[in-house]
Amino acid sequence: MFVVVGVTGGIAAYKTVSLVRLLVKAGHDVHVIPTEDALRFVGLPTWEALSRNPVTTSVHDDVARVRHVALGQSADLVIVAPATANTLAAMAAGLASDLLGTTLLATTAPVVVAPAMHTEMWRHPATAHNMRVLRARGVHVVGPADGVLTGGDSGPGRMSEPEEIVAAALALVERPRDLAGLSIVVSAGGTREPIDPVRFIGNRSSGRQGVAIARAAADRGADVTLVAAHLDADVRPDPRVEVIAAGTADDLGRTMDAVAPGADVIVMAAAVADYSVAAVADHKLRKQDSPGGLTLELVENRDIVAGLVARRRVGQTIVAFAAETVADDEELRERARVKAARKGVDLLAANAVGWAQGFETVDNALTIVGRDGDVVATASGSKDDTAHALLDVIVAVRRTTAS
Ligand code: CTP
Repeated sequence: MFVVVGVTGGIAAYKTVSLVRLLVKAGHDVHVIPTEDALRFVGLPTWEALSRNPVTTSVHDDVARVRHVALGQSADLVIVAPATANTLAAMAAGLASDLLGTTLLATTAPVVVAPAMHTEMWRHPATAHNMRVLRARGVHVVGPADGVLTGGDSGPGRMSEPEEIVAAALALVERPRDLAGLSIVVSAGGTREPIDPVRFIGNRSSGRQGVAIARAAADRGADVTLVAAHLDADVRPDPRVEVIAAGTADDLGRTMDAVAPGADVIVMAAAVADYSVAAVADHKLRKQDSPGGLTLELVENRDIVAGLVARRRVGQTIVAFAAETVADDEELRERARVKAARKGVDLLAANAVGWAQGFETVDNALTIVGRDGDVVATASGSKDDTAHALLDVIVAVRRTTAS
């Protein structure tokens, strides 16, 4: 495999020496791209000797072979380790100021970053924002680990160990194509039920988990349609996924009904409003129209997934989600069991939510129950990791029902 390893200017660059060795020993064709700053920590001859390939930092070297994009185009996998706060910011902004920058813009291969910096820098809102942007763009993040940092302080910021980074990176490229030939429809995001032309009743769903499931299914070879209610601005669907916008519960229901007959797998990750406003005003409501208080009449929306289950065709797998406010894991399992049975779905993925849990976060924890309500899997980690874990269960369920 053609692996590009970007090395940026942090002391952890010395650990990347063994990361490159691991990749070379495993038989990969490794091309190291250090930044100028990285060379202050580990010199160019070291990278050339270890990788057994020429190493340059500048876009002006080897111009005849269009090296500034050629490495990115050839790459099957790109690892940036260590990834400094500065490099992560440059990546988030799409800067192409050196060979690593142009390579990252030119590649369509999976990109793995292993951040390394001091805890304060990692926790700074600017870095947190950049990480959200990168994750939403599909960049995979390994670490940072918690531990002692240069200077004696400790906390999250240490680069993860080379073995861990290599294992996580190779697992991405070696994803099974076990959904090839299947059509998957995923709904995601929160519906918005209009009150008048400028106001709505909404919910806190960002769409992040559903969009991650759509991307993971595309990684595994599926033909994916995303029925998108409201998604947060930094949650962007993968370009391989066909996106159909559906703002309200009613739009989402009609869109799902239209696309469901062609789907082998349906995943209802959208947070659908249970009620909509009975009489939507055609003008902006004014305070003077309802002095002292306003009462809105809400009517119950139909249960979309229950309708899909009722019309399910043979061989179709239907998965629901449930975000629950619960006291503990046991209550979550019990709620999931009851809901899976009530909805008649093949699988139900439940997660605990609260004021400070489950929303606007990059990590998630899912408890997945089967049709009989038994827990078939639990998964936690990034929303990409939990997406793949859910797809693993879907593949397993389809295998058992097909045989
Ligand atoms: N769902 C749906 N149609 C609705 C409401 C929810 O298809 N009108 C789907 C969601 O997309 C999700 C699953 O049903 O996959 C569970 O959603 P949830 O809101 O937890 O279920 P409810 O039936 O609303 O249950 P309750 O209000 O009792 O928690």
